[in-house]
Amino acid sequence: MKKKIRVGILFGGKSAEHEVSLQSAKNVYDAIDREKYEPVLIGIDKSGRWLLSDNESRFLLNADNPRLIRLNASSDEVALVPQSRGAIANLSEMKSDNFIDVVFPILHGPFGEDGTVQGLLKLADIPFVGAGVLASAAGMDKDVMKRLFRDAGLPIGKFRSLRFSEKIPPFREICAELGTPVFIKPANMGSSVGVSKVRNETEYHAALESAFEYDTKVLIEEFVPGRELECSVLGSAFDTSHKGGKIEASVPGEVKSHHEFYSYDAKYIDENGAALIIPADIPGETAERIRELAIKVFETICCEGLARVDFFMKDDGAILVNEINTMPGFTRISMYPKLWEASGISYTQLIDRLIQLALVRFEKEKELKTSV
Ligand SMILES: Nc1ncnc2c1ncn2[C@@H]1O[C@H](COP(=O)(O)OP(=O)(O)O)[C@@H](O)[C@H]1O
Ligand SMILES: [Mg+2]
Repeated sequence: MKKKIRVGILFGGKSAEHEVSLQSAKNVYDAIDREKYEPVLIGIDKSGRWLLSDNESRFLLNADNPRLIRLNASSDEVALVPQSRGAIANLSEMKSDNFIDVVFPILHGPFGEDGTVQGLLKLADIPFVGAGVLASAAGMDKDVMKRLFRDAGLPIGKFRSLRFSEKIPPFREICAELGTPVFIKPANMGSSVGVSKVRNETEYHAALESAFEYDTKVLIEEFVPGRELECSVLGSAFDTSHKGGKIEASVPGEVKSHHEFYSYDAKYIDENGAALIIPADIPGETAERIRELAIKVFETICCEGLARVDFFMKDDGAILVNEINTMPGFTRISMYPKLWEASGISYTQLIDRLIQLALVRFEKEKELKTSV
């Protein structure tokens, strides 16, 4: 019998999306092709400890309740050993006979989607699913991301960034430059944490204060009125089954938020906070344009594996890129896999494709010389 590939599912993490990640991990664990893969669950608790779960019934508490779901903290603490090709050492017993072949980091936001975990996995010399260090970091920092988009000629809204050490520009200067209202958000965050819509000077100062609680750099953006459309991208520049790589885009979907904007509450707290419309009810040529732009966005930040690219569609039909998410929500009912399902790729197939892409990239990078 062919040896199964051991897939380390890394999930949880120090992030506002911890619970979403638990849900995603559970869904991936349940759906992964067991003929081919042997999943190993590694949960990261909210303080950042890595916990190995050897028994599937133990790894989550209240697994079926999205509100109460929790990581079971009684598991063994583990660490990845640098340059070990995937050895995970059990810190309490220091036994390093636990090897994994590839990691699926289902982590969102800072410490997971921002290149930090990706850097650790690179040092540990282990293949992993999704974007590398550069694309993860560039996709996480909305200021750097937008500057790369602008350089690539992608359509984006007006914005400026502000460091915590800079003088706060007067509100009227912002209005003259960006109009009103404006959106203020931390540069490195997700899940709409710290995001505010600002209409006047009082809100302006409150919004800056709130955004600076999460990051040392914030973005101030012109308000883009319109619909919110999302597109899933899958593929790799390393996929040599096609010349130049193979990167595909799904049918676009729409998020209809029932709140003033697609806020944290609309995303996670309010059950009826938003509706996902799949596929989006838009003209064929608009869908085509979104797919083309989504792939271009993916390539612009040198992304790998997967990403969800989010857009605004203005009333006149103009499309602007909002952002790229290099590790989008990955539960069975999340937009990313749902859009693929609507495009003919099942959840189980998607997991398989992503793991295979991780292995292909790793092998190619292994061929590179590290010295003269
Ligand atoms: N410039 C903007 N114009 C209009 N709505 C915006 C703008 N920026 C953000 N929003 C709203 O806030 C939500 C969250 O902002 P986003 O930039 O996507 O941050 P996050 O990474 O937290 O998802 C968006 O989905 C949208 O509803
Ligand atoms: Mg967003």
